[in-house]
Amino acid sequence: MLTITYRDGQNRIGTEELNDYLQEHKTVLDQVKNDRRAYRDALGWMDPEEWASEQQLACLEEKAEEVRKNADAFVLIGVGGSNNAARAVIKGLNGKGPRVYYAGNTISPYQVNELLKELEGKSVYINIIAKNFETLEPGIGFRVLRKWLAGNYGAEAAKRMIATGTPGSHLEKISRENGYTFLTFPETIGGRYSAICDVGLFPMAVAGADIRKVVQGVKDMRKMLYETEGAKNPAYYYAAIRNLLNQKGMMAEMLSFFEPRYRYFAKWWIQLFAESEGKDGKGIYPISAQCSEDLHSVGQFVQDGTPMIFETFLDIKKQDASYILEKDLTDDRFDYLNGMDLWEINKKAFEATYKAHTQSLPCFRIQVEELDEYSFGELFYFFEFACYISGMLLGINPFDQPGVEAYKRYMFEALGK
Ligand code: PA5
Repeated sequence: MLTITYRDGQNRIGTEELNDYLQEHKTVLDQVKNDRRAYRDALGWMDPEEWASEQQLACLEEKAEEVRKNADAFVLIGVGGSNNAARAVIKGLNGKGPRVYYAGNTISPYQVNELLKELEGKSVYINIIAKNFETLEPGIGFRVLRKWLAGNYGAEAAKRMIATGTPGSHLEKISRENGYTFLTFPETIGGRYSAICDVGLFPMAVAGADIRKVVQGVKDMRKMLYETEGAKNPAYYYAAIRNLLNQKGMMAEMLSFFEPRYRYFAKWWIQLFAESEGKDGKGIYPISAQCSEDLHSVGQFVQDGTPMIFETFLDIKKQDASYILEKDLTDDRFDYLNGMDLWEINKKAFEATYKAHTQSLPCFRIQVEELDEYSFGELFYFFEFACYISGMLLGINPFDQPGVEAYKRYMFEALGK
């Protein structure tokens, strides 16, 4: 089970202060767990049984198996919440399945042409994911790839298209008219909270991830968070400290990891917190660092620059890869590493960074047993739950995103929509 610890060598938050805050706001945790009135249209993700039931998982696995048998390329069209969770797991696990390509997340003609070149000669299946089906990028991607599919497969093309949208939407209408497979984007789940429903689970299954393990991680985390009260509740503890730090001038949170397989998970995390909390002139700016590489750039600022950042480290307990550095005949002055495993060296770099950073900034350490489907499930639910609590403590609505409408208004006007 995931664990969280907090350390700050400068003790910015005193024990009494933290206890008082946790006591004062404990109704927020109760409200998040039990009160569905305030955001009932956005809380579908809280109950995995509803959108990831045994029956639904079996349906998704069956369809995914068909795609896996016939495809050597699978294109995931979607942007933001419509592809971030699936991409985090797919890139994180590198499962056995068709190669996955991403579209509908760029308007760059160069990228689109490169993708079409890549797909030449391959057996291609496509999954378009769009909740409101007005977003520009997936709309363009869908049009381009529909044409490509029809040009390459003629009447067979429809069998290769899977659309994930809200029931009653225009995307559903198009799917029914064209004979595409239609999956559900639940009305009550927003994009960035959509990992555990058809949106996230189907592409994960196509790419070879064991979606039952993901869902088990979610369920176990949910049970633990629902059964644990007050300061012992890790999501409440994390959310409370984040908000206290924010009140003390900490404006940014950096998610740091020493395993590059978390790169796209970090993108998911950034989207979750940026779109959920950054509103009404408030919020903590989420950034990420891929270590040890980024220690040679932002590491300087973090250790020594403007004190406005706190850090959340992702740590993995179980070793799952190994490379032993052998003795080398050349005297390169790295002999002190002879016989050491890169896993161990990476861990030591992690511990050293944690030690140095906790001396000057507040740091959380979130540790999972293993980098696998189960812990991705735990992490998704943990952060979504914590984000909801954190948004409530901050006094904003964590489920809307009014800010992204501003640029869209100008863009659609300029495009003559
Ligand atoms: O979290 C969100 O709601 C957004 O990031 C959406 O997921 C993103 O804008 C894509 O939306 P749609 O699937 O409606 O095109």
